[in-house]
Amino acid sequence: MPKNFLTTADWSRLELEALLADARALKASPHQKRLEGKSIALVFYNPSLRTRTSFQVGAHQLGAQAVVLDAAGTWPVEFSDGAVMDGDPEEHAKEAARVLSRYVDLICIRAFPKFKNWAEEREDPMLSAFAKYATVPIINMETIVHPCQELAMLLALQEAHGDLDGKKFVMTWTYHPKPLNTAVANSAILAATKMGMDVTLLCPTKDYLLDERYMDAGAQFAKENGRSFSVTHDIAEAYQGADAVYAKSWGPLPLLGNVPAQQEMSAPFKHFIVDEEKMAMTNNATFSHCLPMRRNVKATDAVADSPRSLIIDEAENRLHVQKAVMSAVLKGLPQ
Ligand code: CP
Repeated sequence: MPKNFLTTADWSRLELEALLADARALKASPHQKRLEGKSIALVFYNPSLRTRTSFQVGAHQLGAQAVVLDAAGTWPVEFSDGAVMDGDPEEHAKEAARVLSRYVDLICIRAFPKFKNWAEEREDPMLSAFAKYATVPIINMETIVHPCQELAMLLALQEAHGDLDGKKFVMTWTYHPKPLNTAVANSAILAATKMGMDVTLLCPTKDYLLDERYMDAGAQFAKENGRSFSVTHDIAEAYQGADAVYAKSWGPLPLLGNVPAQQEMSAPFKHFIVDEEKMAMTNNATFSHCLPMRRNVKATDAVADSPRSLIIDEAENRLHVQKAVMSAVLKGLPQ
């Protein structure tokens, strides 16, 4: 088992299954003092509703204390080795990670990319620096991937569908007025292919393909499971026979750093909204989204409020899966 929970790509299918099984046990019996006396730092460089609340409540339910550090704008940290620190950051991750490690047993970090230079941001510099220098485990609360969200998605899918093997999972891009992070889409592809689903990525053009690291990993995981990972720009082809539709918007990577150009490119694709007409082409598919979700932009009210919508279940499951992850990195996976 890896020391950290940085991406589901590092964890085997069996290990992810064990985390999900433990999350189900914790959902059935939420108050288990497994982490009595432990302290957990929650470091946020970006705002949050779900992640912050579910980690804090989850730590409490396991008997641990969570310390929330609102680092955005108040605690700029340098992460480049050899940096001449004459800019904003007062502190290097070398010190920050090692000092926090002397106080707490686990560090959880949210640090979105700056959406300026993908060649640098794809290396996940803040998370990588903390993982390098901390002497305690690290959990990723969303950087360029969002592994906790995707465990929650998998748990909601298992609850709705049972065995996920061979089910058709459609990851659909949707329009949004702002270019957003690719993290959730990256993680959804990693998680769904690893769990043996037949995965289709639906996006308007090749400009919306995800970083090749995630495209290649998705293809590799699908191959290992004897399943498929395909890309289409054809809405009907994607929805036909789908068992699960997962929606997310992201900015086209080739134009990253140029927001007006990204917005102009995405404007003609508002029809990628998940609506009843598209869902009617599926195999009575479930619908989900990581939230927050702009209603009637990404999905219609009818889809979001339908009995096949898993959005609230998935959000609830953040609590259960994160408790399983905190427990695993501090105490090991249940035998
Ligand atoms: N889905 C998710 O991570 O939500 P928050 O940004 O509210 O934490």
